[in-house]
Amino acid sequence: MIDWEGTWAAYDEDTYAAALALVPPGAVVLDIGAGDLRFARRLAARARLVYAVERRPELLVGGAPGNVRLVCADARDWPFPPGLDAAVLLMRHCAHFALYRRKLVAAGCRWLITNARWGMGVEGIDLARPVRAYDDLALGWYACRCGATGFRAGPPAALTAAVLDTVHEVDRCPGCNDGRSGIRFA
Ligand SMILES: C[S@@+](CC[C@H](N)C(=O)[O-])C[C@H]1O[C@@H](n2cnc3c(N)ncnc32)[C@H](O)[C@@H]1O
Repeated sequence: MIDWEGTWAAYDEDTYAAALALVPPGAVVLDIGAGDLRFARRLAARARLVYAVERRPELLVGGAPGNVRLVCADARDWPFPPGLDAAVLLMRHCAHFALYRRKLVAAGCRWLITNARWGMGVEGIDLARPVRAYDDLALGWYACRCGATGFRAGPPAALTAAVLDTVHEVDRCPGCNDGRSGIRFA
């Protein structure tokens, strides 16, 4: 079986530009799965400090600016440092979104910038924003803290353009207990 999550591949410039635009200038940023550091180098010009964590040592060559701390480690086990403002997770095949989200919240990090939930495009998640229970959502798009995304069907008459344009942050979605998220609800 192919380990897609452990596979290194670069993203296109539009993806990097979209992610970079969501990083608060002057932030302390964690780049999770930094690959060959091409995005971490872009981050370094905007951020105050970048922690670039990558588990494949052969990718961490070629140097980086002085405000980039290279960490060769497994991001699942490596303790996230205090003082993070934002994290970037450019990893479309990430199977540990819920774990990273949990670790970032515990570290006091405010923003998670990622393509891991939707697979396409980049979103900026405000980790301090309260989420609603999936069951309270009558209709519409949702993105769950477990990493699952989807559309909750409802009465066709209630389907408006505004509904289609809105994504709700939820927890306790049907995907939460599928065994991959690490989240368990009774
Ligand atoms: C698709 S690549 C993207 C690299 C980089 N984020 C970019 O956008 O250029 C994903 C990277 O995440 C790394 N990775 C996956 N799981 C990891 C983990 N648990 N700890 C550290 N690195 C990991 C892989 O080795 C790979 O280099």
